[in-house]
Amino acid sequence: MTSYNITKFAVIGAGNMGSGIAQKIATEGFKVVLVDLDDEKVARGIGIIKSMLDQGVERKVFRPAQAEAILANIKGTSDWSKLGDVDLVIEAVFENIDVKKSVFERLSQNCKPTCILGTNTSSFLVKELVDSVTNPERLVGLHYFFHPAKNRLVEVIGHEGTSDEVYRATWASQEAIGKTPIYSADAPGFVVNRYFVPWVNEGVRLLGENVANIATIEWAAKKAFNVGMGPFELMNVTGVPISLHAATSLGDQMGDFYYPGQALKDFCATGEANWPLNGDVDESKYQAIADRLLGATFYVAAQLVEEEVASVLETDIGARVGLRWPKGPFELLNKLGMEQARDLAAAAIADYGLELPKMLQELNHKAAALEAVSSCGNGTVTDLWFQRPDSMNALDQQTIMQFDAKLTAAQLVQKPLILRANGKAFVAGADIKFFVDSLRADNYPAIGNFAGHGQKVFATLAGNEHASVCRAQGLCLGGGAELALATDWIVASPKMMIGFPETGIGIFPGLGGTQRLPRRVGLPIAKYLIYTGQLLNAEKSLEVGLIDAISSFAKLDATCEEWAQNTDYRQGEIEDIKPHVNWVEIWNFFDNNTLDQIMSGEADAMGNTLLEKAIHKMGQKSYHALKMCENLFHEGAPLPLKHALELESRDLQAVFDHADALEGLSALLEGRRPQFEQVASV
Ligand SMILES: NC(=O)c1ccc[n+]([C@@H]2O[C@H](COP(=O)([O-])OP(=O)(O)OC[C@H]3O[C@@H](n4cnc5c(N)ncnc54)[C@H](O)[C@@H]3O)[C@@H](O)[C@H]2O)c1
Repeated sequence: MTSYNITKFAVIGAGNMGSGIAQKIATEGFKVVLVDLDDEKVARGIGIIKSMLDQGVERKVFRPAQAEAILANIKGTSDWSKLGDVDLVIEAVFENIDVKKSVFERLSQNCKPTCILGTNTSSFLVKELVDSVTNPERLVGLHYFFHPAKNRLVEVIGHEGTSDEVYRATWASQEAIGKTPIYSADAPGFVVNRYFVPWVNEGVRLLGENVANIATIEWAAKKAFNVGMGPFELMNVTGVPISLHAATSLGDQMGDFYYPGQALKDFCATGEANWPLNGDVDESKYQAIADRLLGATFYVAAQLVEEEVASVLETDIGARVGLRWPKGPFELLNKLGMEQARDLAAAAIADYGLELPKMLQELNHKAAALEAVSSCGNGTVTDLWFQRPDSMNALDQQTIMQFDAKLTAAQLVQKPLILRANGKAFVAGADIKFFVDSLRADNYPAIGNFAGHGQKVFATLAGNEHASVCRAQGLCLGGGAELALATDWIVASPKMMIGFPETGIGIFPGLGGTQRLPRRVGLPIAKYLIYTGQLLNAEKSLEVGLIDAISSFAKLDATCEEWAQNTDYRQGEIEDIKPHVNWVEIWNFFDNNTLDQIMSGEADAMGNTLLEKAIHKMGQKSYHALKMCENLFHEGAPLPLKHALELESRDLQAVFDHADALEGLSALLEGRRPQFEQVASV
């Protein structure tokens, strides 16, 4: 078995897509070779990246030094002999099969035999390149979305002969470069374009049939799908000929329903660049337009699932992450109801002699199973998988409910558990909007019920008979950090960041954080982390004992599986924990000083800049929340964990009833600094 560890990348084709893909790889800290036909084209690609980075610096997304470091990770060249030590190549040359084939033949000669070869084709099948590659088990599809430095979605496609190791390594490499991968079978249009291209095309057909003018179709499409651009504006942005090409290619492979509407062909023949978007909106046409767009989308989405190109979940994640639709096709379908969705789909395909997919034919079919948490029980462990990458996997009521149900079912199977997530965050906290809405409606019981349920589920997880592991691949914030703490072992990727920002939004960690954290890292470090909200990276987290291991993305799954077999859990005695040598000063400071001594300036930071920074940060937090944390720490420390955890529930209403909670939570939603109550007496 070959072991693939992808650390060096190459991108072939320094055009719109290739330059963006290389930029993203370099931004995530990896070396990337960017290849084009000649030095001039390479320089043009590097120029595109430079100007993107300059814009980023202007908008303060990057500091100038960061932008320089990103550029330094990119080596532009037209010399293919520079590809010898590369681990993964992503081809992004012209969409021409002969050009692509010749590129893969050349890659086979210039790259090492274990180098994974990926194509970013949008209209060919991956398998069409098999004969151009030596060792075709290393050939994959990696379909990115414009702009690839910003859009997180990538469809990962294996052809029949792609080996499992290659597929897994490719997937891990995409997580490592900050992408949100979804599975797609090797099928025309893969997942997202398969319904997105017909969605655009349906707009064109509505125009061609004189159902409405462009302005009305734009308005209705935006309203029905709650999106920022309708089909015509999107065509203008991406290039109208690209839409014609995409629909033609899908039509060639899938039949008449997918072929471009005549109006699109006619428009392209005029040579005009952009559709005119202005005009009077006729609101009476809304339903007719919405029905057709929805019907076409439902038909294709159901067909995708029936053909096993993607699951219901992946189809929707693709839309939410790749197209930024607030709801994916199946969520829209569930909202409307299966019967109505079937009628709309039937009407949309009426002229094409097509059959409805079975899922839509079956009357009284239950809603499509959309999961905020899914489970997968292959092998020796059960994976519980958070599936809302577009919402940073935040814990809302539905997610907690589904997690509860999946956890209960998983416990019956009697295997160790691995908690995992897709996207930038593992779990980035709780649903802040729900808290704010509940407080504004004077409905504390809703918050109490939510937290009570969360605490119960986390306790069930913590009490799991077999080991539980948190695969912390990204951000673990607030409730997400508390969820991680409820597992036996936390295995982090080098990209993980963990923190407890609650006191900065006027509340305290209420899902076990004030009691489980001191039992992992010791009381003084728990105080430091919760009082300051300081984020820790993976290395620092390992030093303080907050996590148990760090593993590269390539080995993350295997490392989690190893820890899942480890039943030597810690016993949770606070007093046995000793500070790491790098943390002695912080430990002693928070051990020796009360909250009020620190807040009043009485505590001496002895010139330690980290401590001075900590004190400064504490000044920006809610004193009321900090004080409640201090009480919880001290009351809880001597108690058995079970009783200590009850203290959080006891105090929860008091923290949410205080004005600082509504102020802090609202400020977070509104993107401003909170103004907490001043405390004169400290
Ligand atoms: N544009 C999109 O939104 C989008 C989205 C997903 C996938 N794709 C796919 O990505 C690929 C690239 O698309 P693009 O929009 O970046 O095209 P582009 O025309 O902007 O760039 C293609 C680049 O490839 C270079 N090139 C051509 N032949 C080459 C060769 N033999 N060796 C090295 N370099 C070569 C060209 O000089 C050019 O710089 C296509 O397959 C396209 O279908 C595009």
